[in-house]
Amino acid sequence: MTKKTFYITTPIYYPSANLHIGNTYTTVAADAIARFKRLTGYDVMFLTGSDEHGQKIQRIAQEKGVTPKEYVDEIVAGIQKLWEIMDISYDKFIRTTDEYHKKAVQKLFKQLYDQGDIYKSAYEGWYCTPCESFWTETQAVDGKCPDCGRPVEKAKEEAYFFKMSKYADRLIEYIETHPDFIQPESRKNEMLNNFLRPGLQDLCVSRTTFNWGIPVEFDPGHVIYVWIDALSNYITALGYNGEDKSLYEKYWPADVHLIGKDILRFHTIYWPIMLMALNLPLPKQVFGHGWLLVDGGVRMAKSRGNVVDPVILVNHFGVDAVRYYLLHEIPFGSDGIFTSEIFIRKTNSDLANDLGNLLSRTVTMIEKYFDGVIPKPAEKADVDNELIQLALSVPAAVEKAIDELKISEALDHVWTLIRRTNKYIDETTPWILGKDESQKGRLGTVLYNLVESLRIISVLISAFLPTTSKKINAQINAEVTTWDSLASFDGTSAGTKVNKSDIMFPRIDVEAKIKELDKLVEDQRKLTRKPTIEPVKQEITIEDFDKIDMRVVKVLECETMKKSKKLLKLKVDLGGEVRQVISGIAQNYKPEDLIGKYVVLVANLKPVTLRGELSQGMIIAAATEDDSKLFAISVPGELPTGSIVR
Ligand code: MSP
Repeated sequence: MTKKTFYITTPIYYPSANLHIGNTYTTVAADAIARFKRLTGYDVMFLTGSDEHGQKIQRIAQEKGVTPKEYVDEIVAGIQKLWEIMDISYDKFIRTTDEYHKKAVQKLFKQLYDQGDIYKSAYEGWYCTPCESFWTETQAVDGKCPDCGRPVEKAKEEAYFFKMSKYADRLIEYIETHPDFIQPESRKNEMLNNFLRPGLQDLCVSRTTFNWGIPVEFDPGHVIYVWIDALSNYITALGYNGEDKSLYEKYWPADVHLIGKDILRFHTIYWPIMLMALNLPLPKQVFGHGWLLVDGGVRMAKSRGNVVDPVILVNHFGVDAVRYYLLHEIPFGSDGIFTSEIFIRKTNSDLANDLGNLLSRTVTMIEKYFDGVIPKPAEKADVDNELIQLALSVPAAVEKAIDELKISEALDHVWTLIRRTNKYIDETTPWILGKDESQKGRLGTVLYNLVESLRIISVLISAFLPTTSKKINAQINAEVTTWDSLASFDGTSAGTKVNKSDIMFPRIDVEAKIKELDKLVEDQRKLTRKPTIEPVKQEITIEDFDKIDMRVVKVLECETMKKSKKLLKLKVDLGGEVRQVISGIAQNYKPEDLIGKYVVLVANLKPVTLRGELSQGMIIAAATEDDSKLFAISVPGELPTGSIVR
């Protein structure tokens, strides 16, 4: 019998994204699902990769003085290394710089052009380079990208356009008649109401102002818009438009595109419309998961300088602690939060206490009472049946949760069994049975049931925590680890020897570890945090600038202002005229630091009254955004007061 297929994809990552535990989530989640599907008998194709073109990459490479390809090669090697560390079992890694991909995209672009879905025109509007997104005047409120809030740039160029509007009605109908297509449900309404129903504009699908992209074959001054290039990966990776289409025929349409909610618009509007235009089936489901936030509720992102490096966590706590945290902490469709405290407490309670303890108690007792040989079970008592029934019902519950992509819920089901098994130890009190030779048979049954529960637990967690599962199997010497073996409670062979080994999750001094981790995370953030700069204000002419009259003044007197930590009152000499100026630099200067200094004054600023004192001008200073560092601009040599600054 041929196996049922299952095709799951992650987004392909920007090499500039600087992987952190937030964006690592998508791939860890996809990995857990892919592994689970393999376990339950599917022929799985799990695709991930890198999205390497675009203006941003070209700029970064230029700044670094290397070619874009040299830059991406190095970063992509790092991404692949990280996936190895995170135990990601992808079947294929696609790079958009791969030749076969480039050719296939060119071919697809030409087809769309030939059939009239793409046409040439001119683009005028706003462009957000970090997001590689186009925006209209009304969307780019205050000159900022509505997605990320960073400044947009004016773009005016000859360009190709995709007739999105032509397919809008078909797409609306498709979404409405396929309730599973966009998941979770709430995201579907967002797409319909915010984007599709108000009407779609044609999408600009080529650029001419840079060349790090796939050239339009028939018009080589143009490169193909990075999202068209990127989204196509889901089919080009399978050989679409290539020489060998067998994978495409086997796996397309995808069962699920797993993505973060920030890129849902591209996957549920542009991508399906591209597929409709190409006359190809749409993916069965696009699932937009929530974000990992940091304390305070903001999204973890490199541009915010608040990221946590997964490798630090893996080095200190092991890969499965990180996988468990990610998979459990972002519940179905919602956001999750990372703090050192939640991470440490969860690792300690769920992994060290619940699971780790269960294993070590069980193996230790088998060593102590049966010389390490798993005993034969005898007659079952009610308390045994209760445990067995639960153990036999959990696999179906886990499978159902995974079918609905509720990974966190799937783990909850497994932990119900883990906690129930721990409770079974307390209820059956094997340490008391062990004291009474006549209870040896009963003790054997209890210990057998514990090992068999652990074997079932190990199979159940193998998709989520593969290393831990292997460690459990090694200690209990599990021979049968198939999904089918979970249908009955007898997969453990009595007479097998256990192999007691190191503690799987050493117990943590919680309070000390929280502090230690906080420090590690903060130290690393300091290293990666780039100072962000305020966007440059709107352009002015030399005539505009000429209106500002700046002069060299000498500080004659200076004193602090009552009831103000920020303000200083200065008397300055402006070429013989004495002016009073109130300046907000008290946090950075003591009055005596300034007396006798030559500084720069905006002399024609309309006077104002501050805290009841007249201020006739403004002292110029350079400062950080929060004023924590501030320097009044001073003139290094002697100049007559009143000299013009220009
Ligand atoms: N290159 C595009 C995807 C193209 S797919 C045809 C891209 N790349 S990315 O590197 O910026 O993002 C990769 C994944 O990380 C996305 O699914 C994104 O939603 C996810 N995340 C980025 N920050 C995240 C969090 N803080 N939390 C959870 N997921 C996050 O977008």
